[in-house]
Amino acid sequence: AAHDFDVDNRTGFMPPQAPPSRLPADWEPWELVLDGAIAESLQLGDKPGLTQAEMRRSESWRHGVRQLPVIPISGLIRSETNLRRAHLVLAWTMHFYIHSLPPDVPVVVPAPITIPLFQISTHLKLPPVLTYADTVLYNWTLKTPSNRPTPALDNLQSHTLFTGTNDEQVFYLSAARMELRGVEALELMRATMDEAFVGDDLAMQRITSFLERLATVIADLQALFATVRDGCDPTAFYNEIRPWFRGADSDPAKRTWAFEGLESDPTWSYPAELSGPSAGQSSLIHALDMFLGVDEFSHAPALTGSSASTKKSPFLARMQLYMPRHHRNFLNHLAANPRPLRAIVAGAGDAKLLGAYNGAVGALKRFRDYHMQIVTSYIIQPARRAAMQAQAASEPVEVEAPLRGTGGTELAKFLKAVRDRTAAAVIES
Ligand code: HEM
Ligand code: ALA
Repeated sequence: AAHDFDVDNRTGFMPPQAPPSRLPADWEPWELVLDGAIAESLQLGDKPGLTQAEMRRSESWRHGVRQLPVIPISGLIRSETNLRRAHLVLAWTMHFYIHSLPPDVPVVVPAPITIPLFQISTHLKLPPVLTYADTVLYNWTLKTPSNRPTPALDNLQSHTLFTGTNDEQVFYLSAARMELRGVEALELMRATMDEAFVGDDLAMQRITSFLERLATVIADLQALFATVRDGCDPTAFYNEIRPWFRGADSDPAKRTWAFEGLESDPTWSYPAELSGPSAGQSSLIHALDMFLGVDEFSHAPALTGSSASTKKSPFLARMQLYMPRHHRNFLNHLAANPRPLRAIVAGAGDAKLLGAYNGAVGALKRFRDYHMQIVTSYIIQPARRAAMQAQAASEPVEVEAPLRGTGGTELAKFLKAVRDRTAAAVIES
C-alpha cells in the first residue's frame, strides 16, 4: 500500500529519482518562457529603483507569455511525473508573471497559462498556484551523477529558482534534506503502529525505544533546519526571494487575481485556494503531529475559533489541499489509525513509555521553538529594518501589520498557538 501513497521507503515524500527536468517537445514553449524569465533575471515589480530598461525587459517577457498558444494537455495526462512538471512550470511562470508586474497594475493571468494550469490542477487535485512540492519536493536534480539508489543529502541541487541566488537554493535544500532525514521518522511511525497492533508488554518496550529514537530524529531535523543559516541571508530572503512566493492572500497590495480564460470551461469557478507556498504543506510535519496526537490539541477551538468538533486548525487543514494527493491520502490513512498512540500511552500506566512519548513531543515543541526563532530572523527583524529604513528616508512605511506568512497567516500569533498546543500534548504522569 506504500506505493498508493507515493511514499518511498528510502526517500519518503521526495521521489527516489530526480523528477524530469523538462517536458516533452510539444510543451517546450512553456519551458522556453520559464527559461526566459530566468535568463532575463526578471525583477520584482515593486523593487525600488527599477530602471526603464529593466521595466521594458520585464514587460516584453510578459508580452511573450500572453502570446503563447493555448497548448492542449491531453498528451500529458498519462504521466504523473509530466503532469507534476507541467504544474511546476506553469505555476512558476504565473508567479513570475504576477510578481514582476508594476504594483499599480491589476493582476490578470493570461489564458495560455490559466487554461492548461487549471486543467492540470484538476487532474492533480491541486490549487492552481505554486506549492511546496513545486519548490522543494519536485524541484531538484543531482549535483553529481550517481549510481546510488537514492540521493545523498549533500548531492542535491535545486532546479528552478526565482533569483538564481545560492540563498534561494539553500532555502529549498534545507527543507529537502529534512524531508530525506524524515524517512526514519516515517519508519518509526510504521513500526510503532505494528507494535501497537500486537499490544503486549514486549510491544510496549519496543514502542518506548522507537519513541526515544524518534526524539533524536526530530532533533536532527532541527539541526538540518539550522543549515538554512549557512548560505541563506535573512535580508536577501525577505527582500528578494520571499516576495515571489506571495499568494493572493499574502499580497500586501491586496490585489485580486483575475484569470483570463476561466470562463472557457463551465465546470471551473474562481479558485478558493490561492495561498503561496509554505513548508506548512510538508506532509512530514503533519504526519508527526497526527502520529503523536498533537492534532487533538493543536487544532482545538482556541485556535480555530470555531466549534469543538473542528479538530484541525483551518490553516493546517487547508494546507493539506496543497499537498500531492497521494500524500494527502497517506495523512488521511494515519488519521484513521484505530489505535492512536496517545491513547495507548495515556492508558498503559508505563512510566518509561510515558517518558519516551513526552520526550518525542518535547522534541517537536523544541523544533517549533526553533522555527519561531528562524521566523524572527528571516521575517520579523527584516520587516522591522525595512520599516525603519523607510521612515529614515521619509518614505511611506509599507510594512503590513500584522505580518503575514506567504501562506497568509498572521504569522506570530499563529505559530505561537501551534507551538503552545504542541507543548500541551505532553501527558502529565
Ligand atoms: C509555517 C516561515 C522553514 C515548517 C510557517 C509560517 C511562516 C513560516 C511565516 C506561517 C504560515 C504562513 O506562511 O502563513 C518559515 C521561514 C522558514 C521556514 C521563514 C525558513 C527560512 C520551514 C521549514 C519547515 C517548516 C524548513 C519544515 C520542513 C513549517 C510548518 C508550518 C510552517 C509545519 C505550519 C505551522 C506548524 O505546523 O508549526 N513557516 N518557515 N518551515 N512552517 Fe515554516
Ligand atoms: N511561509 C514562509 C514565509 O512566510 C516561506 O516566509
